[in-house]
Amino acid sequence: MTAHIHVSSDSSSVAVFSLSNDRISYLFQVSPEGFLEHLHFGAKVIPAANYPSQAKRLHRGCVLEFQDSTYYNLSDVAQEYPVFGTSDNRNPALHLINADGNSTHVFRYASHEIVDDKPLIEGLPSARGGNSQSLIVTLLDEVTKLAVELCYTVYDQHDVVARSSRVINNGDARVTITQIMSSCLDLPAADYDLMHLKGTWARELNQDRMPVPKGRFVIESATGSSGNVHNPFIAVMDRSANEQQGRVFGTAFVYSGNFAINVEQGEFDSVRVTTGINPFNFQWHLDAGESFAAPESLQVFSDAGLNGMSQIWHRFIKQKVSPERFNGQPRPSYLNSWEAAYFDIDESKVLALADITKSLGLQMLVVDDGWFGGRNDDTTSLGDWYPDKAKFPEGIESVAAKVKAKGLKFGLWYEPEMVNPQSQLYRDHPDWIIGVPDRVSSKGRNQLVLDLSRQEVQEYLFSRIDSVLSCGNIDYVKWDMNRTMSEIGSANLPRDRQLETPHRYMLGLYRLVDRIVSKYPEVLFENCASGGNRFDLGMLHYMSQGWVSDMSEPIGRLPIINGASHLFPPCVLASYICPVPSHLNGRQVSLKTRAEVGFFCAARGLSLNVEDVEKDFEALQYYAKLYNETADDVVNGKFYRVQYQDNEVVWQLNSADGNTVYLGYFHILSAANLPFRRARLLMLEADAQYQLLDKQSAASELSFGGDALMNMGLDMPYVCAMQPDQADYLEKGDFASRLFVFKKI
Ligand code: DGJ
Repeated sequence: MTAHIHVSSDSSSVAVFSLSNDRISYLFQVSPEGFLEHLHFGAKVIPAANYPSQAKRLHRGCVLEFQDSTYYNLSDVAQEYPVFGTSDNRNPALHLINADGNSTHVFRYASHEIVDDKPLIEGLPSARGGNSQSLIVTLLDEVTKLAVELCYTVYDQHDVVARSSRVINNGDARVTITQIMSSCLDLPAADYDLMHLKGTWARELNQDRMPVPKGRFVIESATGSSGNVHNPFIAVMDRSANEQQGRVFGTAFVYSGNFAINVEQGEFDSVRVTTGINPFNFQWHLDAGESFAAPESLQVFSDAGLNGMSQIWHRFIKQKVSPERFNGQPRPSYLNSWEAAYFDIDESKVLALADITKSLGLQMLVVDDGWFGGRNDDTTSLGDWYPDKAKFPEGIESVAAKVKAKGLKFGLWYEPEMVNPQSQLYRDHPDWIIGVPDRVSSKGRNQLVLDLSRQEVQEYLFSRIDSVLSCGNIDYVKWDMNRTMSEIGSANLPRDRQLETPHRYMLGLYRLVDRIVSKYPEVLFENCASGGNRFDLGMLHYMSQGWVSDMSEPIGRLPIINGASHLFPPCVLASYICPVPSHLNGRQVSLKTRAEVGFFCAARGLSLNVEDVEKDFEALQYYAKLYNETADDVVNGKFYRVQYQDNEVVWQLNSADGNTVYLGYFHILSAANLPFRRARLLMLEADAQYQLLDKQSAASELSFGGDALMNMGLDMPYVCAMQPDQADYLEKGDFASRLFVFKKI
């Protein structure tokens, strides 16, 4: 095993902890005062007797004497888990109010333990262990008798450090947690940029890069879900880093509720990255004898730029975060009823769509919204998870059986966490919603949020979903969630615990989801929240894929997939060919471009009605076949961003064995006399030959050397309307695309 935790001491410290594998190291030490001082996260450093960079003891800052230590100002010290109260005025990892009513705590090293593998965080999603070692360091505050446990895991094969924290109240009085971060990474002063993924509904996950500012930059959510405004992920990198080169420090939070990631450049220019539950509108009472576990934060280091970082995330998420059962499994190609029929769905339409699904060569039919209660539009029935007898007289289970009898898989949509006021469930249990006394609960899409912190709500939802899944004919579930929380409170919690509601909701949701996916491990679950409103590693731990955005129109989807790919591998992304003009932005995009953008997501299908399909039947058959034949490559291959500019995007996907290479070229707006473009391919074998199989290209059957494709680059199609038609290397008009396929020979 190469993942290794080494403990030693040097001349200036009580103990030095060195966590490393063959490529990366994470180092920190216990100072003579008992504080955990961070030393290094980055490329490998072999454990040594002395290290060349240490916290300085100089006359800097305003508080200079920490007890007996002169010139020890924690604002000037890189720390593992800074706590508010003494001399560090930066954003802390931990802020507590103790029984004396103050917030001063001094946590010092007490003990540590090294264990093989990785401990679970009970009740919360976390990465799996295996070929890993973990270090648990315990810190104690003498006055309150509180303990903090910090857990670090290093892996043989993954350049990831998994971190979590836990507070244990060993005292005899209640304390109140107002801020508990899962990780803190203090980086030395240098010029850094940060990159995060921002957006809104139907424009999620757009990348945004900027210099790390002086002060504090925060991405966060406070609406009960991780949200579509910011994804719980950030990369801090050397300013000179680009896609292929430079040091990048990535952080992703394994949590689906309110989060905050802070990047703070303090008074001495060092940069602190803290990741955890959003402290805003959060408070947690911890009574004597209780403990609180903060969710997991993952940290990645790459010295091969943003693409290098993404490769580490992709492998790790595939192998350690998303459910093992579907790892490496090609996803079925599908037809989804949503943009084909919306709520106007019934048994005869489902069976007609099933026939189309079959005749196109697709593998699964998904019945989206509209199959339950009296759901004819979005005003009623969420909560009443009983098949609509008018639409499905023999029940949904019987339709599932009929669809399966045609040799297809069958999928079904749920939105379990919600209730419409116009529903039997709400009439029976008006107190089962997230809400506060004396205020009207705002509605979103005519619906309210069920209070999943309540056990009886979890039980109800489990029994409703279980009653359908137990028929054994459901192969796939799309788990939707279409609004965020407002007027946040729980009728089940006392006055002084109301601010615990959002985290208790998440614990309840995870408990429910865990129970369902554990009982039905063979069912493929897709996470959806109006698209990407809760697209995070917490949900991915239970559900193998996600509907990354409602923006099904491919040009609108390009920045979303490109942004998502910084963290997420194609195997967790779902996509479908939408109708034209797009129901979302009115764009008219060719079937070719719709299909070729979707190609780079593993769960691929279409959402078209009978008439739409008839218009393009043969072309759709062609793409269904392409999707089926390449499903394995997209799930198991390696995805690279080759170019991302305002008007052009190039993506590459290498099959797992490297024998097939797909290159997607997407050109957005046409113009006259555009420059000729080349794309330099990545990660080929320099001395191998690659044959171009693209039937649409004049260059078909040509082969090129890997060295030439990587170092000279491949000419991209020239987009223009006025050149002679016979030139096969042309694409015409707006929204052009070309999928090149190479085989290594
Ligand atoms: C929102 C989802 O993102 C859509 O794909 C669709 O499932 C609708 N909900 C159904 O109401």
